[in-house]
Amino acid sequence: MSDSLAHLTKPVPRYTSYPTAPHFHAGIDQRTYEAWLAELAPDARVSLYLHLPFCDRLCWFCGCHTKQINRYAPVTQYLEALKAEIVRIAGIVGNRPVTAIHWGGGSPSLLAADDIAQVTALLRSVFNVTPSAEFSVELDPSDMEDAKFDAWAAAGLTRASIGVQDFDPKVQVAINRLQSFEQTKVVVDAMRSRGVGSVNIDMLYGLPHQTIEGAASTARQVVSLRPDRVALFGYAHVPWIKKHQTMIEEASLPDSQARFAQANAAADVLRAAGYVSIGFDHFALPHDSMAKSAVDGTLQRNFQGYTVDEHDALIGLGASAIGRLPQGYIQNVVATGDYQRRALSGEGTVAKGIALTDDDRLRGYAIERLMCDFQVDFNALRQRFGGAAEPVICEAVAMAMEDQNGHITMRPGVMEVTAAGRPFVRSYAARFDAYLAQDTARYSKAV
Ligand SMILES: C[S@@+](CC[C@H](N)C(=O)[O-])C[C@H]1O[C@@H](n2cnc3c(N)ncnc32)[C@H](O)[C@@H]1O
Ligand code: SF4
Repeated sequence: MSDSLAHLTKPVPRYTSYPTAPHFHAGIDQRTYEAWLAELAPDARVSLYLHLPFCDRLCWFCGCHTKQINRYAPVTQYLEALKAEIVRIAGIVGNRPVTAIHWGGGSPSLLAADDIAQVTALLRSVFNVTPSAEFSVELDPSDMEDAKFDAWAAAGLTRASIGVQDFDPKVQVAINRLQSFEQTKVVVDAMRSRGVGSVNIDMLYGLPHQTIEGAASTARQVVSLRPDRVALFGYAHVPWIKKHQTMIEEASLPDSQARFAQANAAADVLRAAGYVSIGFDHFALPHDSMAKSAVDGTLQRNFQGYTVDEHDALIGLGASAIGRLPQGYIQNVVATGDYQRRALSGEGTVAKGIALTDDDRLRGYAIERLMCDFQVDFNALRQRFGGAAEPVICEAVAMAMEDQNGHITMRPGVMEVTAAGRPFVRSYAARFDAYLAQDTARYSKAV
């Protein structure tokens, strides 16, 4: 990798929000959150994110908010608290339409069939879930069995998101995640045969002992299952935050150049199989709504990564869950014990957040459009933000003038990241980040 590219692989945020989560503070509390919710327009479209912070295995690479458990009792206790939060928040949201529900984790695939049915019934009884609402869940294939497939399908699931990562046995041993192709295929087939219309598969590059051919080979196996969407994430190695990642030997990790080659090799296989590239880490078959939204400029980015779910408010439910309202971001307390106590005592579960300033909205918009469309349209910025947009436009022009890598082009009124520059889009987005100067040590590699 040349020197002019090397600085583009420095650690930067993934920009699933702006300002990013490290800037949230305790000044935003439950009372602020509930006042913000009450101010939502009567017809505001609401998207729900529910977090289950448990797994029955611990993969060494995992960067999610989760804890390993070996019995079901902690899930049962947690669900009591989650139901209390659902009822409380629904009481404020009232009749506003819920257009999407997403279960993430951790592993919501741990949920027992009865609990899937019960929590879904509660959601549908206290929220105004629209008949066409999207309903998705993240599934670890090792948890799945027939009763759960039936329960998710009966609950109205529209998309199953299945974690694969990599099929190479040597990689799987190094990440403590043994999962065969056959085990994965059972889940894809089971969901499809029960009428779940859409399947997503998560893959990773940059894993210990992963090779270019290994990443390509996993991609070939993945496309043989014909998922509607594929997420190809770069492994974020942050052992100073996630202690279990110290189980991964640093010497077994590919360098930036190898990571880049692995990502390209997997992407080539996906494209050759008919998948369209979306953003910097997603792929979809052309019929899929994500492929369509990438074309018409309505793709969005939130804590789940890229999404097509157009909403006015994202409500996070559960420990560590993050919400986004027009006024700002809110995050629930992370520790499950604390979360449960606060949800059940009625104290409220919000730990922190941030109220958006006009400058945050402007920069957040420019970053989101760059990450989603690979371009910043100066007229769109001026229309939304007036004269306040000029410093961001100047920054975009400066970036284009400084570029020596063929990564950025200018057409009248538009700064665009080229195909060659796309893998580095996080680093270009970082130029609009007014908070970043403070510290970059906490983030993972950009590529
Ligand atoms: C909550 S997990 C997936 C659901 C389920 N627990 C599973 O493992 O199949 C969501 C996805 O995040 C991605 N992920 C987890 N840790 C990561 C890390 N350190 N860097 C990049 N992606 C990561 C993985 O691709 C994973 O499938
Ligand atoms: S990758 Fe999934 S199964 Fe593995 S520890 Fe993380 S959340 Fe749990």
